[in-house]
Amino acid sequence: MTTSVDGPVAIVTGSASGIGLAAAKMLVSRGYHVMMADWNYDLALKESVNIGHFAEAIKCDVSSWESQLAVFEKTIKLWGKIDVVCANAGIPEQVPSLFQTEEIPSKPNTLVIDVDLKAVIYSVNLSLYFLRKNKVPGGHIIITSSQVGIHPFPTGPIYGAAKAGCIHLVRSMAPKLSKEKIYLNTFAPGLTISGITAIGEGTYPKHILTPMENHMKAINMFIDNNYYGHVYEVDAGGLHHRHDPEYLSPEHQEWLGSSDTEAMWKKVGTLGAADIKNK
Ligand SMILES: NC(=O)c1ccc[n+]([C@@H]2O[C@H](COP(=O)([O-])OP(=O)(O)OC[C@H]3O[C@@H](n4cnc5c(N)ncnc54)[C@H](O)[C@@H]3O)[C@@H](O)[C@H]2O)c1
Repeated sequence: MTTSVDGPVAIVTGSASGIGLAAAKMLVSRGYHVMMADWNYDLALKESVNIGHFAEAIKCDVSSWESQLAVFEKTIKLWGKIDVVCANAGIPEQVPSLFQTEEIPSKPNTLVIDVDLKAVIYSVNLSLYFLRKNKVPGGHIIITSSQVGIHPFPTGPIYGAAKAGCIHLVRSMAPKLSKEKIYLNTFAPGLTISGITAIGEGTYPKHILTPMENHMKAINMFIDNNYYGHVYEVDAGGLHHRHDPEYLSPEHQEWLGSSDTEAMWKKVGTLGAADIKNK
């Protein structure tokens, strides 16, 4: 039988570098044990050793379900519970992207959907299972989305679509999960110097560069409050709450958002109807 450590426990994906690394450091400074899950194991290990014995590195490709499951299982084995999951790992737009000029375009590279959206779906689903199994069920799931998931981003439309997907996942799932004391939120960073963006350091307009401390403020805010379904755009100017779009009418809200409607969809058999593989 696994026993739980005294302090809180977190998993941070993509924590060998950038925002995830800053989150791992910040969480350890708050007394958390942190599982640093990253594709770049050597760097994650080096950073975990620098952080100290409350941090543990594990190699993980977030786009693989089995790889992420192993992270959750190892965390439980070592520390007995999971209080916070930061689904943070991400990559930028890949090439070839969209807006191609060839007559017959080459197939777009959609790896960014696998890493920045599909993997987040995996993180959320695994979190639900493990947070429900905590001795005191519940916890926090915090997704790193992006400013470009809120605003149009012609430079990286597939990346923007993945990040918008993360935001919509939060809005769709959070209210229901909050009833189980599982609090799902996202912060949407503006341009930040990190592994992804370091190459252009010095060329970006200074007034839009987001200091890392603002992202840490967002993570702390989510952990310290029982907010759910919140989307915070985090930029040079601070944290901006981006509210859900308005429904067209109370009837639309009832139809789209109520659990009665979900029961109806199930009854008529529409849920899952597009799963042609099982036909
Ligand atoms: N830096 C920015 O300007 C910015 C802006 C908006 C959103 N974001 C988002 O912030 C998050 C963190 O990125 P960052 O800016 O700190 O960049 P980063 O490159 O410094 O960190 C990303 C980390 O994710 C890891 N990673 C990449 N693919 C992985 C995979 N398949 N499995 C496991 N780990 C993987 C990398 O090894 C790296 O350590 C990402 O989701 C990114 O999209 C960044």
